[in-house]
Formats: sequence, structure tokens, C-alpha cells
Amino acid sequence: MLDSIRRCDDSKAQEPNSLSVSTIRALGLIAVSAFYKIECCNLRCLAARLSRSVTLNMNVKKIFVTSSVTVVVAVLLLAWFFSPYFLLLFLVFGPIIAVGTVDMLQKRQTVRRNFPVIGNFRYMLEKVRPEIMQYFVETDTEGKPINRLFRSVIYQRAKKQTSTSPFGTQWDVYRDGYEWIERSIYAAHPQDLEPEQRVLVGGADCLQPYLASRLNISGMSFGSLSANAVMAMNSGAKIGGFAQNTGEGGISPYHLKHGGDLIWQIGTGYFGCRTPDGGFSPEGFQKNALRESVKMIEIKISQGAKPGHGGILPASKNTEEIAEIRHVIPHTTVDSPPSHRTFSTAEGLMQFVKQLRDLSGGKPIGFKLCIGKKVEFVEICEAMITTGIKPDFIAIDGGEGGTGAAPIEFSDSIGMPLRDGLSFAIDTLRGFDLKKDIRVIASGKVFNGFHIARLIAIGADMVNVARAMMLATGCIQALQCNLNTCPTGVATQDPALAKGLVVEDKAQRVANYHEATVSSFIELVAASGVRSAGELQREHIFRRVGATQVLRYSDIYPEVEVGAYLKDPARARAM
Ligand SMILES: Cc1cc2nc3c(=O)[nH]c(=O)nc-3n(C[C@H](O)[C@H](O)[C@H](O)COP(=O)(O)O)c2cc1C
Repeated sequence: MLDSIRRCDDSKAQEPNSLSVSTIRALGLIAVSAFYKIECCNLRCLAARLSRSVTLNMNVKKIFVTSSVTVVVAVLLLAWFFSPYFLLLFLVFGPIIAVGTVDMLQKRQTVRRNFPVIGNFRYMLEKVRPEIMQYFVETDTEGKPINRLFRSVIYQRAKKQTSTSPFGTQWDVYRDGYEWIERSIYAAHPQDLEPEQRVLVGGADCLQPYLASRLNISGMSFGSLSANAVMAMNSGAKIGGFAQNTGEGGISPYHLKHGGDLIWQIGTGYFGCRTPDGGFSPEGFQKNALRESVKMIEIKISQGAKPGHGGILPASKNTEEIAEIRHVIPHTTVDSPPSHRTFSTAEGLMQFVKQLRDLSGGKPIGFKLCIGKKVEFVEICEAMITTGIKPDFIAIDGGEGGTGAAPIEFSDSIGMPLRDGLSFAIDTLRGFDLKKDIRVIASGKVFNGFHIARLIAIGADMVNVARAMMLATGCIQALQCNLNTCPTGVATQDPALAKGLVVEDKAQRVANYHEATVSSFIELVAASGVRSAGELQREHIFRRVGATQVLRYSDIYPEVEVGAYLKDPARARAM
């Protein structure tokens, strides 16, 4: 290009009529100075105009057009009169003028239309806002949904880095809501306690009870998670001797490759046991239920992040492979129905539990829900008594729970928070004298040993964790699970991104996090003076509720006596 410019310059120099050229140049110079005389006024006022126009939403377009024309004319004239090399300035100004022109012509973003070029900064800054907040602005105790303090603990435990922290707590222990566990002078030695405190799941009708860890991986489907993330979690579960819940997306080959224990979840879409019209297929169910790795089966009624809204598989994540596993059309958004087709009453749910138990050869069957209408849970307990059919476990998920994708109103404004829902469910089961036969799993923002302890104190037997396991697998809380662009390859179906997640490395981290968190829980149990996790009671946990007032969980969530609702059924419905 430079050669051609040079040639062009040389050819002009050789023109015979050089006088007329200099006349034209002189005239040109007069024109330029006249033009700039006029523009001078504009330029003098440019700064003042710019600030005024930005605030008053006017004239930026005019300034852009005037400046662009000025620049184009100036560059052309400079090139004409002095050197064609001045045309190179278009490499700088050309793209700016092109961007501004596109901004003014596009119709989707008013800010860009009204403020060409500079309006783009607003969108650029908005895009990097989460990163700026996370890396530069948020404090250790502030980040949402999971603050840096908890994220760091999970990373440190997953990487087996230091297990201690310096200089004392970062929490304000006098703020409302601060919680702690009672410590005993006669604390036990953690090594004297049974190290894992495992829990046997399986009631009287269960033929294959499962000895479960206190901490397991909560339901997350292959679809919302990448194949590598699923494999890392499954392999971690195998190493650490705990279980992975498949989520409602069915059992994929990645759940089976490493041989970790599975809790197979069945949602309203019946993925993995689905008839062509979207109903429940007993044959399909039996095929998967009889697999060796499937240790328990969970009917998903609802999850805390979107109760009453079925699972959402965004079209971008619905690959050919996932569609084949789920028996749906690829590259379409798949919404699971909000409720089950197989039952519409509490008795119907119990009959479904029995059907699954029979078809699975007596494996533990349970259901997961976020408490909504309290009376419906009471009816379920009543149905257990009238039908004589009891689930082996019930998983209570809190409104604070996570999701791959959910409408914001559902995440923010529906579903009972975990501790309220859990205490209600435990009390209702106790009131009907059912708790002794049914194990209760709790999930919702469990990240460390204390989080486990306070839920066990309320009455849960085990906890499930989802996002903590994502973090252990390498998630950096980029908040892009619903966009298929997860930079760490955890929650994406983009093979290029997922490939970055090294299964063997992250599997060990998942196992490390599990081990360290369970042992920190056991240490707390020992410090509180009891000899087993099952002895933790609501009275062991304190909560500050005001500047001068502290309540025990037993005051906040008063316990219902065992069998109280059997004597007085109306009392249960009044809760
Ligand atoms: C990426 C992702 C996918 C999820 N998929 C399911 C699912 O398929 N079925 C389900 O019942 N819950 C699903 N959940 C909810 C979790 O199982 C869990 O109930 C909830 O996140 C609370 O746990 P946490 O606070 O430890 O994340 C999902 C959560 C996440 C973050």
C-alpha cells in the first residue's frame, strides 16, 4: 500500500502543469483555513459542549458528525497537500468513525444512538462489572451469592492448602444474625468420635439400605454441568466414599465411568425413564434403577431456586448428546413441567414411592422439595400414615439454593428459606412420629463444618452441597451457568471450554473438600461436648437477634413433641 501511495505521489510530482497545482494548493489552503475558522468556534467550545451535551442528552451526535467530517476532510487535505502518508491516520480514525456511524444507525440501544462511540463505554463497563466487583470492590464477607470468605475456604480445602486462618474472625460478632455453636469445657477428642458419622438410609420396606456420608453432592444434571465436571465430581465421590446426585437430567455415561455412588434423580421430565410423550416409563426406570452404581432414587418435586418451575435446559446447552440421553429434540430449550404427571395427591405420591421401590428391587426411595404450602407437607405425612407407605428419605432444599438457570422472580421470591423449611419439616415428621423411619437431607448454602452442624442440630441427618462442589471443581462464580460460556468449563457444553477442566486433578479436589469439611464438622461436634453428630440439638446453636438479645435455635424453632399431631391432628394443620 505504501508503495502505491509513493507511486501516486511521484506521478503527481511529474505533472507538467506544476503552476496550476500550486494554485490549486493555495486555494485549497485558503479553503482549509476558512473551514477551520468556522470550525474553530466549534473546537473552542468542544469541551464545554461535550460535558453539557452528555448531561443534557444532546449534541453528542452533532459533535460526532462534525468531528468526523472535520477529521475526514483534514486528513484528505493533509494527504493532498503534504504527504499521502497522512492517509494512514484513517487507521486510527476510520474505526472510530465506523463505530460511531453504526451506533447512530442501530436501533436497539438508545444510549449508543444518542451518544455514538462514548455510549459503548457504558456497555463495556457493565460487562466487566462483575469481575471488577469480584476482584477489586467486594469485601471478603460481601460477595454474592457466595462471599469470598466461603469461596476461599472451599478452594483451600479442595487444594489441601493451609487449614487455618490468621488474626481472628472477619465477621462482626455483634451484628444481627451472627450465629455460633455452644462449646463445652468437657469437649471430646475428635479422634474418639466415629470419624465419618455415616447414616443408614432405608426404612422397614427398603431391601437395599445405603450407608451414606453426612455430606453428598446435590443434584446437578449433565447438561447444566459439563461432562468433565460430572466426571470430576463422580470420581471425587468414588475417592471419598460419598454419593453424587445425578440431577434431573438422567444418568449419562459420565456418571458411570468412574464408578462413584449415584443418587438418581427423577424430575417432572422423567429424563432417563421417559415415554415418547413425556410420561413415566416403568421399563425405562427399571433399566436404570437396577444399575449397581444407583444407590438411592430421588423424586424431584421442587428445588429451592425455582419451586413450581420445572428444570430449564437452555437451547445453547441442549447438544445432540444431551438430547439423546434425555430423549428430547436437540438445540431447543427444554422446560420440564412444573408438576408430576404420575401423581396429583399426597396418596398418589406415596403410591409412586412404592412403585419405584418395587421396580428398583427395594432401593431407598425419597423425594426432594422446597417447602411451599405447609398444609401440603402435612397431607403428605398424613398419607404416609393412611397408606402405610413411607419414603426412606426426604430432601429439603432452601429458597437460597442454587440453579443453572431460573427466572429471577423464582430465585428471589418463592420458596421457603432452608432453616425455616427444615425445622417445619422435621417438626411435622416428629409430630406424626415419622422422623424415626425417615432420613432428612438438607441443602442450601452449606459450605463449611458449622453450616453442617447447625442443620444437623435442627434435625437433618445429612446435607447435600451443589455450588460448593462446583467451586471445588474449579468454578470461579463467573455467574454464566445459563450462558454456556462458563470460563472454567464447569457449567458449559462448549467442548473447548470444558476441555480445560482436568478431571483427575479436580476429582481429587472434590474428595479433598469433602474430607476436610466433614472432619471440621466432626471437630465442632466434639468441641460442643457431644459424642456423635446425632446428639446435636437446637439448643446448641445461638443466634444474635438484637444488640442485647441472643436466642438459641430451640427458642427460634421450638420443637414439636414426638407424636403430638397423632393426638391432635388439627394442631398440625394450624402450623
Ligand atoms: C448448576 C446447578 C444445577 C442444578 N440442577 C439441579 C437439578 O437438576 N435438580 C435439582 O433438584 N436441583 C438442582 N440444583 C439445585 C441443587 O441441587 C441444590 O438443591 C441447591 O443448589 C442448593 O444447594 P447449594 O446451596 O449447595 O448450591 C442445581 C444447582 C446448580 C447450581
